[in-house]
Order: sequence, then structure tokens, then C-alpha cells
Amino acid sequence: MAVLSNLSMATISSCLTFYSLSIIFLLTCLVSSSFGELQRFEHPIKEGGSLNFLVVGDWGRKGLYNQSHVAHQMGKIGEKLDIEFVISTGDNFYDNGLTSPNDPLFEESFMNIYTAPSLQKKWYNVLGNHDYRGNVEAQLSPILQQLDSRWVCLRSYVLDADIVDFFFVDTTPFVDKYFTEPGEHTYDWSATSPRKSYIAKHLQEVQTALKESNAKWKIVVAHHPIRTAGHHRDTEELIEQLLPILEEWENGIRNKWRRFKSVEW
Ligand SMILES: *[C@@H]1O[C@H](CO)[C@@H](O)[C@H](O)[C@H]1NC(C)=O
Repeated sequence: MAVLSNLSMATISSCLTFYSLSIIFLLTCLVSSSFGELQRFEHPIKEGGSLNFLVVGDWGRKGLYNQSHVAHQMGKIGEKLDIEFVISTGDNFYDNGLTSPNDPLFEESFMNIYTAPSLQKKWYNVLGNHDYRGNVEAQLSPILQQLDSRWVCLRSYVLDADIVDFFFVDTTPFVDKYFTEPGEHTYDWSATSPRKSYIAKHLQEVQTALKESNAKWKIVVAHHPIRTAGHHRDTEELIEQLLPILEEWENGIRNKWRRFKSVEW
């Protein structure tokens, strides 16, 4: 994706309200029931069962392209909403991810930009296609967490925030064009090869995690949208491979209360 910084905010209590400018993720809200093999993080929420957080994607620009302005507004709304954390939907560092855990971009595009007090919370990240153009392991490195304890980044994982489970999905390896038409870019597929088995294992993990989730709300977070009216269009690979898993799970609990929704702003 090559859009500018996306920002959205979400308030979850008994029902879920989204106010948003732009975002790339799929929202799945359902009732069902623990976890498979995806690594799991827990984030406590406020007494009273409400949760506020911000979602941002396509951001790392050394403050340019209005990144600093968006960061400033995030600081203000983050304070107003008293957010618990920030979710990043990937393309964390333009144009080509990080070169190493010591890449100054981490400081220039993250640490020095999101300085507002309200943003000094955990940042739960996934990777975008631009991140795959760099050294992917750099973004996953514990060194970044030592530099800035807000940073949480894995290829895929589950975040359990009491009333909601977030499923972070690594969508870049699904998309054919990065393999067939890489152009002048090189992608770091080192840990996702062979591609077929990486994808199969990932889908199975998501499937298992969804089935075992007890949370009232379930939100799937990824860089690429499944459906969108945006200029990148639908992601066909996800319609074919990821969507059936979400629908299968939805069908499995058809007799219970359910809601399923895919959103792109
Ligand atoms: C920053 O935002 C302003 C106002 O929306 C816009 O006119 C300008 O083109 C943006 N700058 C960049 C570099 O995108």
C-alpha cells in the first residue's frame, strides 16, 4: 500500500463504534471460545469493560508527508479517549522497511514522532509489503523493544484484550504480485519460504485461534484489505484463501448471535 498515514480510533464497550479516516483491516465480531499455536499477548482493560485504542497504518516517513501532523492529532485524540494501546496495520517504515535493528529510521520515524504522552502505550504492529522490502527480522528484533518498550511486532499473533481478541495476520506473503512482478524491489522472504507451506501453516493457525477464542469481539488485523473500494482494489488471494476460513468459522456458529463485517475506510 502506498497511502499516507492512516488513522482511526475505536471505542469498544457492549457495542463497537468506529470513527475513522482510513484503515485496512477486517473486523469480525462474534461469540465463540483459547488458542492454537499463534503467540498470545494479554492486555488488561479498564474496569467497566470498555476499551479505547487507535489504529494507524502506512506511517514511517521521518515525520514528512504529514506524518508529524497525524501524530500530533493522534496525541490529542489519544488523550481524550484515554487509549489503552495503538495498533499498526503495517508499512511501518517507508520506503524499504528497516535495514537492521540499529537503523536510524526506527528513531526518526517512530521514537521521535509519536512523542505525545497519550501515545506512550504499547504499539501492536504487523508488517506491510514495504516492511518486507527491508530486513524483516530487524522489525521483529528484541533490540527494538530495548530501544523503545512500546514496540511489539511479530509476523502474526493474538492480542487478548479481555472483551476482544485481535488476530494479527501476515498478509504480504499471500500476494502474488510481489513474487511475479517485484520490479526493482527485493523482498525478504527468507523466513516465509517455502511460500506454500508458510501460508498453509499460517491459515491453520488463524483457523485454530479463531475456533478457540472466547472473546465476545474478534477483530482481524492485517495490512491488506480483503475487500475494498480503495485504489489497490480487493486482494483476490485473501478472498480465496483467508475469507473462507473466516466464513467457515462464522457458519459454524450460525445458531448463535453473530455479526460479520469487513470494513475499509
Ligand atoms: C500535507 O497535508 C496538506 C493538507 O492536507 C496537503 O496539502 C499536503 O499536500 C500534504 N503534504 C504532503 C507532503 O503530503
